[in-house]
Amino acid sequence: MANRIYSAVVGSGGYLPGSPVSNNAMVERLRDSGLETSDEWIRERTGIEQRYFATDDQTTSDLAYHASLAALEQAGLEPNAVDLIVLATSTPDMVFPSTACRLQHKLAIRQCAAFDVQAVCSGFVYALATADLFIQTGQAQTALVVGAETFSRILDYTDRSTCVLFGDGAGAVVLKASDKPGILAHKLYARAEHEAILNTPGQLAHGRVCGSPFLTMDGQAVFRLAVEVLESSAREVVGLAGLDLQAIDWFIPHQANRRILAMVGKRLQIPESRLIATVGQHANTSAASVPLAFDVARRDGRLQAGQTVLLQGVGGGFTWGAEALRL
Ligand code: ACO
Repeated sequence: MANRIYSAVVGSGGYLPGSPVSNNAMVERLRDSGLETSDEWIRERTGIEQRYFATDDQTTSDLAYHASLAALEQAGLEPNAVDLIVLATSTPDMVFPSTACRLQHKLAIRQCAAFDVQAVCSGFVYALATADLFIQTGQAQTALVVGAETFSRILDYTDRSTCVLFGDGAGAVVLKASDKPGILAHKLYARAEHEAILNTPGQLAHGRVCGSPFLTMDGQAVFRLAVEVLESSAREVVGLAGLDLQAIDWFIPHQANRRILAMVGKRLQIPESRLIATVGQHANTSAASVPLAFDVARRDGRLQAGQTVLLQGVGGGFTWGAEALRL
């Protein structure tokens, strides 16, 4: 398209705190609460082998800071080149200011637009689409887009059906305005009637936490909906980009469960060799999962310039969305 401004990915970075926590370490931890689980159950039902947990003194913006520095370094840019920060999280440092502003401060960026996006596990895809629109309309030239989470803080360690599924981490990309593609297409959705199948209902009121501050989930309902919308949004966004599924070199869906990835891959007839899967090593890091997987595949050389990639998010809200981009 003539004169179109694209958002080109010029850097990516990831950060996982501390050392890996194995399934067997979770078995021990749950045993202390009188609950049984096993490495076999977790691996077979989810594909998860390990996860990372932030230390008590690390906040979401700390994880975001490390991922952002790595992304900026790869892009060869100083932090002050950034004129927009969009940060996706459901586990912010505080009620306000935003975690994006806290990140801006840590990066010593004197002044730029900075705000959070809250779309749970779809957060990064929402944030990337938002930043792309800022760049397309000329409101930003260099955007730092981050997904960062400390889900370990909202896990109920007396609920074995959820606490083994999640981990902490952060991923970031740097977008720059370019006359070459770039992000090709995106589409975002929410269907709030499904709020009850995945939520953390607690809220601060009158100096107290009202309602449960822990994540709750109807795993099977989430599984079914996730498969449905990952399939439909892949087809839609690939079409919006003027491509077909066979033209996509790499699929990077939200990393929640290996069985979800396998089922979607089968429905779309995508071979496993074109699917990036990091859920085994990272577990589900919510808004961080897609940029972390993207960064892993970019750094290990699977993702190459000129290739096309489909990024997909799905999570609480219920929200979902996808982006097709050319590297
Ligand atoms: N260890 C051992 N047994 C367990 C555990 C555990 N950690 N958790 C649950 N079980 C037991 C259950 O109690 C149940 O026992 P019962 O048959 O005696 O009642 C049995 O395992 C089967 O439980 P199900 O819930 O039917 O197990 P299922 O095969 O559906 O797997 C899971 C559960 C892994 C949560 C699955 O439904 C799932 O992956 N859903 C998708 C949810 C997801 O990934 N969410 C992430 C957030 S949302 C998102 O990111 C899109």
